[in-house]
Amino acid sequence: MGQTVFIPRELDANEPRVAASPDTVKRLAALGLDVIVETGAGTRSRIPDEEFAKAGAAIGKAADAGKADVVLKVRRPTDAELKGYKSGAAVIAIMDPYGNDAAVAALAKAGVTAFSMEFMPRITRAQSMDVLSSQANLAGYQAVIDGASEYDRALPMMMTAAGTVPAAKIFIMGVGVAGLQAIATARRLGAVVTATDVRPAAKEQVASLGAKFLAVEDEEFKAAETAGGYAKEMSKEYQAKQAALTAEHIAKQDIVITTALIPGRPAPKLVSAAMVVSMKPGSVIVDLAVERGGNVEGAIPGQVVTTANNVKIIGHLNVPGRVAASASLLYAKNLFAFLETLVDKTTKTLAINRDDDLVKATMLTDGGKVVHPAFAKVAEKPHVEPAAIPATTMVADAAPKKAAPKKAAKPKGIA
Ligand code: NAI
Repeated sequence: MGQTVFIPRELDANEPRVAASPDTVKRLAALGLDVIVETGAGTRSRIPDEEFAKAGAAIGKAADAGKADVVLKVRRPTDAELKGYKSGAAVIAIMDPYGNDAAVAALAKAGVTAFSMEFMPRITRAQSMDVLSSQANLAGYQAVIDGASEYDRALPMMMTAAGTVPAAKIFIMGVGVAGLQAIATARRLGAVVTATDVRPAAKEQVASLGAKFLAVEDEEFKAAETAGGYAKEMSKEYQAKQAALTAEHIAKQDIVITTALIPGRPAPKLVSAAMVVSMKPGSVIVDLAVERGGNVEGAIPGQVVTTANNVKIIGHLNVPGRVAASASLLYAKNLFAFLETLVDKTTKTLAINRDDDLVKATMLTDGGKVVHPAFAKVAEKPHVEPAAIPATTMVADAAPKKAAPKKAAKPKGIA
């Protein structure tokens, strides 16, 4: 008997994704692992039980989690789910540990070896395991689709016998993985696209996708990228300059899509209430950062808000889940690629090398303890509120018409 991998049905009503696909089940079986998929686990990603069974999985029930040496999940397990796991089981998921100290402590207490997939280092070897990229890419695509469907005009320019429809103007704020895909998607749909970011590397990427770049390019901007390639939290002064620069631009846009995130911090506020008011009636804002505090003032998680001046602010939760059938296939592949590195090919059993860089970066809890350096304090004081997360810095309301300093208002490259 080999070791057992269990894939449960996600309990969260907002989570249609599943942590395995028929393809990854086949690959797990080929590694010599027994795979049990909970009945209905794939339903909301359009993978019926029969397809998992055909690929070599046994179809089981939630209680089968107790047999598992490895549990593959989308979301961090609840306390109730944890109670059903074997102590010592490896649990691999998007653990969302920041600000969730009690939940991290609970993983340790359950004795599971928990891996947080979002901590996967962005090195070549781990590219196929990068869940942030695979899911953000789809979220960026879906943000444009959601924005377009709430917008009551056409996106591309249309020259017809009955007259001309102008191309929509779309502004993408934050051009990491999601933002870049949003640019590409909006361009394919024929919109006129501009974009901004605080990382200098983004400038060239934006240009290479045929969009125009807009940013405050001062000394702070030039140093704004961490070694890991992520954005730093910008100073209040920079944020004010950035707001002044973007305010005038936003007033002229039809659709604004915000995707700005800073790892381990609340999302930066980029669109103030005054900027929302400055937009034309019928304009649409999509806030992809809404679950992390939001980039847009007035965005409400899980809602499409219509403001008094008739601007729609879309705050859908779990945007990759809105394209669940695609998102699950990629996510499942990310998990498989990682799990494969944890399995000894000769003994066909789990052999976690705790000195491996990927393991060191992602392992949250092990042997009853919180082992990840970013959460080491959790082990000592399990019930303390997270100290690392400061209150969200609100951008001072930038009055779109008058606040922009002359120099910043004429960025290079913007017509
Ligand atoms: P993210 O999801 O953490 O953030 C999204 C974007 O928001 C980032 O581009 C960030 O610079 C931007 N942002 C933060 N604060 C902002 C502000 N105040 N105003 C405007 N924009 C702001 O980023 P994501 O998508 O995870 O990408 C981060 C970096 O990692 C990028 O350089 C990306 O190319 C790189 N990457 C590298 C991979 C690799 O394997 N080497 C794989 C995937 C991404």
